[in-house]
Amino acid sequence: MKVDGKPFRTIWPADDGWAVEIIDQTKLPFAFVTVRMESLGDAAHAIRDMEVRGAPLIGATAAYGMALAMHGDPSDENLKGAGEALIQTRPTAVNLRWAVDDLTALLSPLSPNARAGAAYKRAQEICDEDVEICSAIGDHGKPLIEAAWNKRQQQGADRVSVLTHCNAGWLATVDWGTALAPIYKAHDAGIPVHVWVDETRPRNQGASLTAWELGQHGVPATVIVDNAGGHLMQQGEVDLCITGTDRTTRAGDVCNKIGTYLKALAADDNNIPFYVALPGPTIDWTLEAGSDIPIEERGSEEVVRITGTTSKGNIETVTITPEGTAVANPAFDVTPARLVTGLITERGVAEASKEGLARLYPEKTS
Ligand code: MRU
Repeated sequence: MKVDGKPFRTIWPADDGWAVEIIDQTKLPFAFVTVRMESLGDAAHAIRDMEVRGAPLIGATAAYGMALAMHGDPSDENLKGAGEALIQTRPTAVNLRWAVDDLTALLSPLSPNARAGAAYKRAQEICDEDVEICSAIGDHGKPLIEAAWNKRQQQGADRVSVLTHCNAGWLATVDWGTALAPIYKAHDAGIPVHVWVDETRPRNQGASLTAWELGQHGVPATVIVDNAGGHLMQQGEVDLCITGTDRTTRAGDVCNKIGTYLKALAADDNNIPFYVALPGPTIDWTLEAGSDIPIEERGSEEVVRITGTTSKGNIETVTITPEGTAVANPAFDVTPARLVTGLITERGVAEASKEGLARLYPEKTS
């Protein structure tokens, strides 16, 4: 997608052909800063400290992390150690393990001097595949927005509104996004789509990242506090919800940013369709129950401190709770399949169930 009119992906090989560059998402929306990664340690740091985040982008960064590790030391020992180090960075998004397993299986049988070249090639393929997958998710999701718009138009409305949570846009993937891809495709096709953007405490990925990228593309969007969605649904202001997911079980339970479950409950109570958009690598075929997904517990500073710009344009972080306050910070929750209207994938829209996913991905279940 474009930043100030210039096309960008979220991760790309540097001009020297071995280092890798990313957008530092911790600086958005205040500054657009790119970072050069030169080692496995840089890639692990970028994932752990959320310079990159979002399940597909975490997977792509892990793939390049493996390539950087092989560039430094292609030994068997380092191949194993690199995978272990990356897996430990963030526990919930399954794309991380998927990418590490993919690269490990590819590189293990190769001689050490062939590993770096093969790893860079595969990392680039994973990135290109992610772009194609997300674009296809957009194509399959767009008709859902179009249908909602056709219905709305008959009622005399001048827009169709989608509610989304966290950031599942192009910043969370290599390009296009998952939940936002259908929105971009609908907007580009001339459908007057408007987005309700949950701010998404504690890290505010909605307010800082989703609002920023929708604004860059010219999609009308309104940021709301996390607790406003249910009220807007009751008022008839939400036509459908679309979120992303960090891990989906083979039975269609979805794990996404904390607060997603409450939106799904509110949507169910108001008969509003609740869709989840995901690429195939986000499905964990080893798990059936969402309750088995590991939920990342993050640091208390994300809850007690908040960053913004002052009226003078300085970026400052302030504390918002009494000193010594006890804090819990689970970063994800699980929405059971029964609350999910459909799963928008690169292969089409599936019912959120074992049978629905098996129909789209028969090779995974046979
Ligand atoms: O903690 P984050 O910012 O990595 O969480 C991201 C999300 O929850 C996204 O909704 C999810 O990864 C889907 S991204 C396409």
